[in-house]
Amino acid sequence: MKRIAVLTGGGDAPGLNAVIRAVTKTAINLHGCEVLGVRDGYDGFINADGIMPLDLGAVRGILPRGGTILGTANRGNPFARKIIRNGKEVVVDVSDEITAAIKKLQLDALIVIGGDGTLHIAMELAAIGVPVVGVPKTIDNDIGGTEVTFGFDTALMIATEALDRLHTTAEAHHRVMVLELMGREAGFIAMHAGVSGGADVILIPEIPFRFESVIKKIQERTQTGAHFSLLAVSEGAWHLGGQPVFNRSGDAIYVPRLGGIGQEVGQYIQAQGFETRVTVLGHVQRGGSPTAFDRWLATRYGAAAVRVAAAGGFGQMVALRNAQVIPIPFSEALAVPKRVDLNSDGVLTARGLGISFGDE
Ligand code: F6P
Repeated sequence: MKRIAVLTGGGDAPGLNAVIRAVTKTAINLHGCEVLGVRDGYDGFINADGIMPLDLGAVRGILPRGGTILGTANRGNPFARKIIRNGKEVVVDVSDEITAAIKKLQLDALIVIGGDGTLHIAMELAAIGVPVVGVPKTIDNDIGGTEVTFGFDTALMIATEALDRLHTTAEAHHRVMVLELMGREAGFIAMHAGVSGGADVILIPEIPFRFESVIKKIQERTQTGAHFSLLAVSEGAWHLGGQPVFNRSGDAIYVPRLGGIGQEVGQYIQAQGFETRVTVLGHVQRGGSPTAFDRWLATRYGAAAVRVAAAGGFGQMVALRNAQVIPIPFSEALAVPKRVDLNSDGVLTARGLGISFGDE
């Protein structure tokens, strides 16, 4: 390999810079490669000034930094790019421009760090001959084929700390505290943080809930002398007979965004006579410095991606399996999005502890 490029796409997650650093250092140290950074996701291939050189100096000091030094974009699908032309939405395929740019740059490999959407694009690019290797990123932990994505552990830590803080004020005021957490259609953040932060009720998209069941749990607690309750609510949670709640509808450029279920749940509980407050943790979950685990995982993913590229293993994504980082085909990783397994020991553990999922 003489020249490789790296890009970050989709929503940011703590640990992106750790991957960029590991890719750059490994490629330079082991292969004497020239490394390029692509700015703002795939858009960097077509934007002016979209490519920047990455040397050892450029990645110095970025390991603990949140965000991404390359910038990212979560609406730049080159195969179906939505743009407004003359006031109307048009979808254009600019993948030719991307492949032409990659050829012109004479890239021997492209390392794509992203979530579901970004990696699907990487798979499509691999199918048309682009030498791509993927690295799974997302706080949502919803990518198949890998036990965990980097970014999840940090989000979990922040969400758990938020629950701890809400716990003390809930107890002091005899209130119900509802914490709405991210995760899209996957309930991992709410589920893991809920257990780790001692929530009494965890609502996740994988288990549609009933309001009556949530109230039952709060009443039970009151009857046993616990005059406060803590709820971890995934943004994708929905009640039986209802549907997921969106706080921003889709338009020509943006995809719809989940949000608002925490408020709905809070209003219902308040209407039943329990003083309730709602907190939406939002993008706090994505910001700031990665945990040691995320730095460790992100670094291993980055280094492994370079090894896979050097061995010509394109069309694959690095994944964590049985504590080892291994390459797996994109097709396997992206076949089915990962969701909370209702028979997993995590769910059984929570039920055993008396945590309500709002379904009983
Ligand atoms: O996929 C990561 C994520 O943070 C989701 O948990 C959340 O639904 C979404 O991105 C928010 O997207 P945006 O940053 O575009 O508001």
